[in-house]
Amino acid sequence: MRILVSGGAGFIGSHTVVRLIENGYDVTVFDNLYNSKITVLDKIEKITGVRPDFRLCDMLDYDSLENIFKEDHYDAVIHFAGYKAVGESIEKPLMYYDNNIRGTLNLLELMSKYNVKNLIFSSSATVYGIPDKCPVDETAKLFCLNPYGRTKLMIEEILRDLCIADKDFAAVLLRYFNPVGAHPSGLIAEDPNGIPNNLMPRIIQAAKGEIKELKVFGDDYETRDGTCIRDYIHVLDLADGHVAALNYVFKNRGSVAVNLGTGNGLTVLELINAFEKVNNIKVPHSFAPRREGDSMSTYADASLAKKLFGWEAKLTVDDMCRDAWKGALNYE
Ligand code: WQD
Repeated sequence: MRILVSGGAGFIGSHTVVRLIENGYDVTVFDNLYNSKITVLDKIEKITGVRPDFRLCDMLDYDSLENIFKEDHYDAVIHFAGYKAVGESIEKPLMYYDNNIRGTLNLLELMSKYNVKNLIFSSSATVYGIPDKCPVDETAKLFCLNPYGRTKLMIEEILRDLCIADKDFAAVLLRYFNPVGAHPSGLIAEDPNGIPNNLMPRIIQAAKGEIKELKVFGDDYETRDGTCIRDYIHVLDLADGHVAALNYVFKNRGSVAVNLGTGNGLTVLELINAFEKVNNIKVPHSFAPRREGDSMSTYADASLAKKLFGWEAKLTVDDMCRDAWKGALNYE
């Protein structure tokens, strides 16, 4: 079976492509390489022995995207492509709405036109905003704090409406918690363009000496050590979650939102300490004021993924820290 992967040269996309190939799928990747590199394909081939088909394509270019659907038939689409920087989305909301929403509408229109009715969508725990309680399950209130999160929620709503209108359509909306880590080979990893916002890339920059120290945003939260709690999940566990969801989407219709998390919460300081210990390196850090919009604690109730897909996260925080560091040191 052939899977079309939008944004498949990106961080989560590339790790998912590796797992798809290892599970026997044929894969076509399309990507505009805005936040990724074509060399990722060489590394996927090194890891799996198979080079996925690749199309350089921007999902805003309808005709170029239609050519991809004309060239081959796809049994499903996994949709990663989209801008994802929270801060940038606040500065440039129209760019985010145009790219993420219009791009997705182009994709969905062509899927319908070419009778491709199975979709896995890369959603995010950001749709929960600041949850009232943890662990967060899929029935929690949805509320977004920024344009990036609102694009994810709007696309979820579009997919729910599409699956009501077209009973032949199936969409699984995967709500990622905090993806970290890298492939243990060190060949593919998180490779953020510009200044990363997320915690793990900043830990790595501090460990490498690329920044003087990591700023920990807030040490006065009502948590066990005063710093925020998140559900960090290894990117390979996340990738396996997509393969498991694919098996589900071939057998079921309609839309369903599913958390992909470990179900365990970790504070910022606990992640820093784990990283220092497993990699035997210091992460220079100091405390700074709280970051606007941060929730004190967000971690998943991951039981629905287990129930529907038979999937659960298996890799540990030490695996995440070890693989993230190896990826950062080997990546070029
Ligand atoms: C984690 C914790 C920060 C940087 C974001 C997006 C979400 C998803 C995952 C895409 C928080 C603290 C961070 C730093 C710090 N991305 N931190 N110093 O905010 O949970 O979620 O990434 O889907 O949409 O919102 O992740 O890594 O930015 O922050 O102290 O330099 O680390 O305050 O407590 P977040 P994060």
